[in-house]
Amino acid sequence: MSKKILITGGAGFIGYHLTKHLLDSESNIELVLVDNLQRGRRDEDFQLLLNDRRVKFLALDLTLPDSYKELGGKYEHVYHLAAVNGTKAFYEMPHEVLRINTLSLAYMLEWFQKENKDGKFCFTASNEAYAGGLIAFNQLRIPTPEHVPLVIEDTYNPRWSYAATKLIGELFVINYAKMYNFRALLVRPHNFYGPRAGYGGHVIPDFCERIAEKTDLFPIYGGDDTRTFCYIEDAVRAMKMLMDSKETDKQSIETVNIGGTEEIVIKDLAEKMFQVIGWRPQSLDIKNGPPGSVKRRLADITKLKKLTGWTEKVSLDEGLKITYEWYRFHPASKT
Ligand SMILES: NC(=O)c1ccc[n+]([C@@H]2O[C@H](COP(=O)([O-])OP(=O)(O)OC[C@H]3O[C@@H](n4cnc5c(N)ncnc54)[C@H](O)[C@@H]3O)[C@@H](O)[C@H]2O)c1
Repeated sequence: MSKKILITGGAGFIGYHLTKHLLDSESNIELVLVDNLQRGRRDEDFQLLLNDRRVKFLALDLTLPDSYKELGGKYEHVYHLAAVNGTKAFYEMPHEVLRINTLSLAYMLEWFQKENKDGKFCFTASNEAYAGGLIAFNQLRIPTPEHVPLVIEDTYNPRWSYAATKLIGELFVINYAKMYNFRALLVRPHNFYGPRAGYGGHVIPDFCERIAEKTDLFPIYGGDDTRTFCYIEDAVRAMKMLMDSKETDKQSIETVNIGGTEEIVIKDLAEKMFQVIGWRPQSLDIKNGPPGSVKRRLADITKLKKLTGWTEKVSLDEGLKITYEWYRFHPASKT
């Protein structure tokens, strides 16, 4: 019998690459992808995946209860990635971020506990949910392990709308899994990047676009902040390894960081990209990040390595080159 897997948010950035990785690494597989195409695109790349007979696509809005009748059940793995994501959305429509992310997760978990008793549920949480601790209390263990307080630094700053959905999301998943006795994995992605990561609101795609357009007086927001980045193929490989790992089933619920190890200051990231790509603007416009922007983020990935033996394969230089090439041929104006 084939392994049945559901990916919500399947047309989005992580969903697309995860689907590709699963199709490349498993032959006997039945994949159902769900997306309302609010952000994900039915573009050429995605259409290629849909041409594979192992894949079925359902265009559904997961905030609507009727959508769940279409999903069936008895999935071995469910990756719940669907959410409104991207910093721009946090500021422009925080009420929708709150409504969509929370409502869809609550319906999802109700459906999951009824239709997938033996399945394993993966929720993509976020480092945003703990990052506020550094601003609020000026302290955070660096590298940051999984068990730290989750903090909403300022309820009046719309930026934290998304973090709040991930904070409550973790509580939803942990308590549903305990109550209904199913296996669950909470992954905390730390800045995944790569081709097809969307437009507007993520630093590397934004830099790629500005470099492709040869924007002089090159704006860099939060230039002194530091981040790590994890190339998307490494990231989805880690997600699959965690879902397949019997080690993660021992506790029945696990929270695990996924991220890169090379910490880099944002203005140095820009310099690295100029060097890798071979073009540099004459002048830079280095600005502060918006209020609530977090100075430093570095995940402790000891747990991920211990549970799965995962290591990064794609260097930052290599990943940036591939990502830039993709954005060069797929500018936002053509989507
Ligand atoms: N990319 C990262 O580095 C990162 C970091 C932290 C957390 N995450 C989380 O990982 C998940 C996937 O992120 P991504 O980068 O692929 O984002 P994405 O925006 O590319 O993908 C999310 C997908 O969900 C879909 N969606 C939104 N609302 C929906 C609804 N009501 N019904 C059905 N589909 C809906 C969107 O159309 C989109 O295709 C999200 O939960 C995100 O919060 C990602």
